[in-house]
Amino acid sequence: MHTLRERNRFKLIGVRAEEQRASFGEDVAQGLSRTPKRLSYRFLYDAEGSRLFEAICALPEYYPTRVETGILRGHVDALGTSFGSALWFVELGSGSDRKARILIEGLLRRGKDVCYAPIDISRHALEKNCEALLETYPGLRIHAVAADYLEGLRHLKSESDGPMLVAWLGSSIGNLERDDAVAFVAQVRRWMNPTDRFLVGIDLRKDAAILERAYRDSQGVTERFIKNVLTRINRELGGHFDLESMEYEAPYDGEAGRVDMLLTSKRRQDVPIDGLSLVVHLDRGESIHAESSYKYSREEIAALGRQAGMKLEAQWMDVSGWFSVNLFAPT
Ligand SMILES: C[S@@+](CC[C@H](N)C(=O)[O-])C[C@H]1O[C@@H](n2cnc3c(N)ncnc32)[C@H](O)[C@@H]1O
Repeated sequence: MHTLRERNRFKLIGVRAEEQRASFGEDVAQGLSRTPKRLSYRFLYDAEGSRLFEAICALPEYYPTRVETGILRGHVDALGTSFGSALWFVELGSGSDRKARILIEGLLRRGKDVCYAPIDISRHALEKNCEALLETYPGLRIHAVAADYLEGLRHLKSESDGPMLVAWLGSSIGNLERDDAVAFVAQVRRWMNPTDRFLVGIDLRKDAAILERAYRDSQGVTERFIKNVLTRINRELGGHFDLESMEYEAPYDGEAGRVDMLLTSKRRQDVPIDGLSLVVHLDRGESIHAESSYKYSREEIAALGRQAGMKLEAQWMDVSGWFSVNLFAPT
């Protein structure tokens, strides 16, 4: 990783654009050569993807942002009690600064000396938000990392000089297969000291109709967000995807507790990707899997923590029991 920018109160380190592009190309070549075809959710977030995700958060059907924000507002004061006078507030996949502001303000209100350390692969969104935060909070230091979650966290572990509150919000854990989620939390656990805490926003199992509406909205914003990965392949890798030839679907599998976001070919077609010297063959009705969103029950959350070596110190939910914010401590 390299220092990309540094000035008073602000440091940005990360992976350079060309390295990111290389890993995007490798992932696309691998994912579109296998059966079933699959792309990694993390490539949904370029500058346009981050902008579209923000638009999703404002949709009436997309309850997670609204509900999680309400829970954080209601319980932020309790969070401060877990820490001494100074801490690093690390945010995995920070996206917009909406939730960071709630937590930063809550911690500052309790007189904490805070160093905010957001980690996000979307560098554009990261820089924009940091600028705004530095302006609002004159006492805040920011050490931002434009990189993959665990790469960023490993780096921060060697930089930080105090207890850490690591937050992973927005139900981002749901993008991981269940076993991978346990492995991820266990890795975070390995880097935690006894005084560190891990705050995770987890969406709960619920009625299929509510979930399918949330992930396939009436204005087609989620469809544009998911299809943006094809636009990105066309632009960055010389692809020739015709977006109109792909249908967006988001079925909920109640048994697996998972919404799958799929792009399904409306016709038999061959799509060249010049930059990868690859031709992708798609049959009519064949899908490319772009993202999953796993939902959890309360028992599944407790089991996840146990398997990863964590205990639930607090769990907060909204009155409808749609979403949960979980504070894990290492055991
Ligand atoms: C579902 S959004 C959540 C954004 C925000 N935390 C919220 O709660 O609204 C996921 C965020 O994580 C970032 N992201 C996705 N995969 C990532 C990865 N593997 N490493 C680092 N950041 C990632 C995206 O750029 C995006 O900002």
